[in-house]
Amino acid sequence: MINQRSGLYFLLLIGLLAGNGVWSQVPFPGQCPQVKIMDEFDVEAYLGIWYEHSKYPFAFEIGKKCIYANYSIIDNSTLSVVNGGINRLTGNPSNITGTAKVLGPARLAVAFYPGQQTTKPNYLVLGTDYESYAVVYSCTSVTSLANIKIVWILTREREPSADTIATAKQILDNNKISQSFLIDTIQSKCPKLDANGTDFGVEDLTEDAIDDFVGTVLPNAIEKA
Ligand SMILES: *[C@@H]1O[C@H](CO)[C@@H](O)[C@H](O)[C@H]1NC(C)=O
Ligand SMILES: *[C@@H]1O[C@H](CO)[C@@H](O)[C@H](O)[C@H]1NC(C)=O
Ligand SMILES: *[C@@H]1O[C@H](CO)[C@@H](O)[C@H](O)[C@H]1NC(C)=O
Ligand SMILES: *[C@@H]1O[C@H](CO)[C@@H](O)[C@H](O)[C@H]1NC(C)=O
Repeated sequence: MINQRSGLYFLLLIGLLAGNGVWSQVPFPGQCPQVKIMDEFDVEAYLGIWYEHSKYPFAFEIGKKCIYANYSIIDNSTLSVVNGGINRLTGNPSNITGTAKVLGPARLAVAFYPGQQTTKPNYLVLGTDYESYAVVYSCTSVTSLANIKIVWILTREREPSADTIATAKQILDNNKISQSFLIDTIQSKCPKLDANGTDFGVEDLTEDAIDDFVGTVLPNAIEKA
């Protein structure tokens, strides 16, 4: 028996599958829940490299690992965003560059394609200590009955301590954001970012680390969200 609500949920799911040709994101019933966004946010302290520790799943990232983001200043209200990663199947590195408009404290509108809106925040920082972890959240109501959430735990180290992750997860708990959909991103056997940070050190690629970089995580997620 499918009741009306789960029936709708099911249809939405099918719609998403059909629409994107792949499983993209997890739809949740209801409107976007209230979350606590940081009141004060130090953009400068947030800049630089963040590694993706874990995220809510979306298909575009399946098969990618060693995912990172690099935030830098363009002007006082705009950041440059570079996302990079390795495609585990093809072994090719790639990255994508976008911008983030700073719309308010811890409220960014990230865009990777011309025409993407930058007036509504789609990247909310729920918590960060700037030095070890950041918890980033995005939620869009797709109908009055469903929403799509994206959650990332970002870390300054590729392989952060258990304490760091526990602290980040506490922020999810405080916001009643489920951890059951979080999938860890592979960050082992990753090539090092070079000293200038502009690219991956290719000499670090070994046979089983060969994969290609794809930086589509944030872009695709946000684009779809
Ligand atoms: C940057 O800030 C200054 C004042 O602090 C302001 O005059 C200027 O318009 C701002 N530029 C942008 C791009 O927001
Ligand atoms: C970093 O940049 C400097 C100056 O551009 C260059 O001489 C050096 O080789 C670079 N280092 C790496 C690891 O790419
Ligand atoms: C991050 O971006 C800054 C500013 O563009 C750049 O100097 C740095 O090399 C980048 N780091 C990486 C790892 O891409
Ligand atoms: C991004 O990828 C291009 C090739 O598509 C490469 O030339 C460039 O160095 C990469 N940038 C970073 C920051 O990795």
